[in-house]
Amino acid sequence: MKTRVGIVGAGPSGLLLAQILHNEGIPSVIIEHRSRDYVLERIRAGVIEPGAVATFVEHGVGDRLLCEGLPHQEMQLRWNGQMHRFNQVDEDGRQLTTYGQSAIVRDMIEAREAAGLPILWNAKVDTVEDIEHAPRIHFTRDGQAQTLDCDYVAGCDGFWGVTRGLIPDIDTHMFLKEYPFSWLGILTQSAPNPDKRGYAHSLRGMAVASSRSNTICRHYLQVPPETDVNAWSDDAIWDELDLRFADEGGETLNRGPILSKDVVRLRAFFCDRMRHGRLFIAGDAAHIVPPSGAKGLNLAVGDIRILAEAIRRHVTAGDSGLIENYDATCLQRIRSTVHWSNRLAQTLHIFPGQTDFDTQMQMTTLNKWAHTEAGNREFVQSALGEPYPV
Ligand code: FAD
Ligand code: DHB
Repeated sequence: MKTRVGIVGAGPSGLLLAQILHNEGIPSVIIEHRSRDYVLERIRAGVIEPGAVATFVEHGVGDRLLCEGLPHQEMQLRWNGQMHRFNQVDEDGRQLTTYGQSAIVRDMIEAREAAGLPILWNAKVDTVEDIEHAPRIHFTRDGQAQTLDCDYVAGCDGFWGVTRGLIPDIDTHMFLKEYPFSWLGILTQSAPNPDKRGYAHSLRGMAVASSRSNTICRHYLQVPPETDVNAWSDDAIWDELDLRFADEGGETLNRGPILSKDVVRLRAFFCDRMRHGRLFIAGDAAHIVPPSGAKGLNLAVGDIRILAEAIRRHVTAGDSGLIENYDATCLQRIRSTVHWSNRLAQTLHIFPGQTDFDTQMQMTTLNKWAHTEAGNREFVQSALGEPYPV
């Protein structure tokens, strides 16, 4: 098998890259380890920056997102049993949209299938040879060893993928922070309560109330790192969310059946080398942000825009400038997004051994974000995301 761009992974990064390349007339093949159903059912991110929404729309996969996505006008922060709201639309009218990652992935898979373009499901990439000159991807499908020859390889295979490890000395280019807690996430069949949204700072631990549609919600609780998801009954999760979200209004979250539960360990990670020869890593393969801030998917969109443009310039005009500057161009946005997500994580969670002094400092930061012009601006601009370099 042969193609122009071999893409490892059919997550948001791989699918978006394939879609942009297709619109530019550049052929690609996606190789995905998991089944189509598994990828469609994976529950993850949901908050989409305006720049990412515009990217999906520009590339023909944003119609449903525009119709069904829920725009956010307001942010709510809670601490000390009080709710603080502020406007989250900036002076240019930019705002966040909630729309599940699984819905975006579905929209991109359907667009690719409608165009008759290949995604090789249940195909696990083992390695890539001759990365510097003529890459050959080796993968296993249905127990059979197969190869794909290509001019460029996009490593869009997430944090646990194989492509990052193909960059020489990558261990000396990685920066990792493990947080001493996890998030227990639930997807629920319940209507969002407009007065119970956003982030809650509570001495019991942080909580998030978010939504996916007018009938589906996504909520999170800070829990100890090794938490077993089955140790929490549905009632215990709802009771804990209400305790952490308690405020002077006295309302509670709207309850409903819990459709799925998961526990995710919080970490921040990035590497400052994202290319070797004709291999480029993007999205979670190159960086992970703690979910406070909901930036993982948005950051992946930034990398993919740069990678697609770098390949386009090289293929159409022989211009290798952006290819050579791929990591430096991506890293500007990556570093500042990791910085913001870490800042939110440090401010919202209760850390083991946290003192009253630490809590006072956290509440001072929250107060600045909610009630000072400069703090408010920092919060809103960081939440809406920085402009893309290309
Ligand atoms: P992925 O979505 O990880 O896609 C990588 C793909 O590569 C997968 O389909 C995988 O099966 C495939 N793959 C891996 N290895 C191979 C191989 N050897 N061969 C072939 N295919 C391979 N972000 C938020 O903003 N908010 C959240 O609430 C949130 N929750 C999350 C919960 C979990 C459990 C995880 C893991 C992530 C979460 N994220 C969240 C982050 C967000 O989902 C990611 O940033 C986003 O999925 C990145 O997309 P990606 O395509 O780069 O990687
Ligand atoms: C989601 C919302 C958030 O505000 C966040 O920080 C992480 C995830 C969500 O809707 O999944």
